[in-house]
Order: sequence, then structure tokens, then C-alpha cells
Amino acid sequence: MKGIVFTEFLTMVENSFSLDMVDTIIEKSNLPSGGSYTSVGTYSHTEIADLVTNLSNESNISIPILLKTFGTYLFHSLARTYPEFVQKTTDPLDFLEQVETYIHVEVRKLYPDAELPTFICSRPNSSRELHMIYKSNRHMEDVCEGLIIGSLEHFKRNCSIQREKISDNQELFIITKADQSP
Ligand code: HEM
Repeated sequence: MKGIVFTEFLTMVENSFSLDMVDTIIEKSNLPSGGSYTSVGTYSHTEIADLVTNLSNESNISIPILLKTFGTYLFHSLARTYPEFVQKTTDPLDFLEQVETYIHVEVRKLYPDAELPTFICSRPNSSRELHMIYKSNRHMEDVCEGLIIGSLEHFKRNCSIQREKISDNQELFIITKADQSP
């Protein structure tokens, strides 16, 4: 997993809790990297699971809520770091479809060793309803939901999100526009 994910996670912990909390969860986690990350480095995705587990223990906030909150935070920082990726459209559903076909394609050019999920998108019922099947062995479904929430906040559109587990490594997200505007 790319270092940017870790540096953003620790910045969120510092801003939402404290620098002491950052030190505590690094100390309590068993991190092969020792907890010093550079944004271009690559680290095991199990390190983020370890850090989140310890943050949950220390804060009494559940792991799914922490991961979802982190996903939302991560989206806003990615959108600031890579503004060109959020400028191709103003529609959140079109944007989410572009994650597989454009954004992550460009991310792979920047970071050839990036570990990215696969999304299968369709609109089986209506153009106002996007079905996104998330496929990844890293099980970042909660981070994924947070990233989707962050996208909807960014495009300022009121949409609902439903989730359904399809199989061990596949989760369906259904994102539906709530209002009547196009
Ligand atoms: C500006 C937009 C975006 C950029 C620049 C971006 C970039 C990235 C990068 C750099 C990673 C880390 C890869 C690694 O650690 O090796 C990543 C992972 C991921 N991205 Fe994106 N992303 C964007 C938007 C989104 C959105 C909107 C979603 C959700 C629909 C999404 C879903 C994910 C997930 C779930 C992962 C974790 C890896 C996994 O589950 O296998 N991304 N992305």
C-alpha cells in the first residue's frame, strides 16, 4: 500500500485526536516499517489494519466508523493533491464510473506498484442509480464507502448509498441520486 495512505491516516489522527495518539498507536502496533512512512514508499496493507485496530482500542470508536471516516478524509486530500482527476465532470455518478476507467489508470502510471481494487460499474435500473461492484483482496470496503461519501460531498449532490456483500472479496455499492435535478 502506498505511503500516501499512511501519511494521510496519521495526519488525520493527529488533527482529530493528538500527536500523542499518533505516537501511542505506532508504539502499540507491530509495524515492520517502524511507523515512518514516505508518501512514495510502499508498505504492507496489514500495517494500516494494525494502526486502525489500536486507534479503535484507544478511542473506543469502532473500526468500521474509523475506516469510513478515514476514507472520506482521504478523498478530500486526494482531490486536493490531484485536482485534474476531479475536474473532468461535475456529476458524482459519472465521476465514480471514472475511478476504474480513468483515475486509477492514471494512478497506476504514477505508481506502477499501486495495489488498486477493481470496480465493475453499471446502471441496470435507471441513469440515476449507479451499481459499483468493489473487488479487492485487501478488504477496504469501509474505506471505499468513505471515499464514495467524500466524492458525494465534493460534488455537493444528495445521494443515498446502499451496500450489499456479494462474496468474500466483492461488495456491491448502489449510489442513487436523491433529488430530481439531472
Ligand atoms: C482523486 C481521486 C482518487 C485518487 C487520486 C485515488 C488514488 C488512489 C491511490 C494512490 C490508492 C492507493 C494504492 C496503493 O496503496 O497501492 C488508492 C486506493 C484505493 N482507491 Fe482510489 N483514488 C481516488 C478515488 C477513489 C474513489 C472515489 C474510490 C471509491 C469509489 C476509490 C477507491 C479506492 C480503494 C477502495 C482503494 C484501496 C485499495 C483496495 O481496496 O484494494 N478511489 N486510490
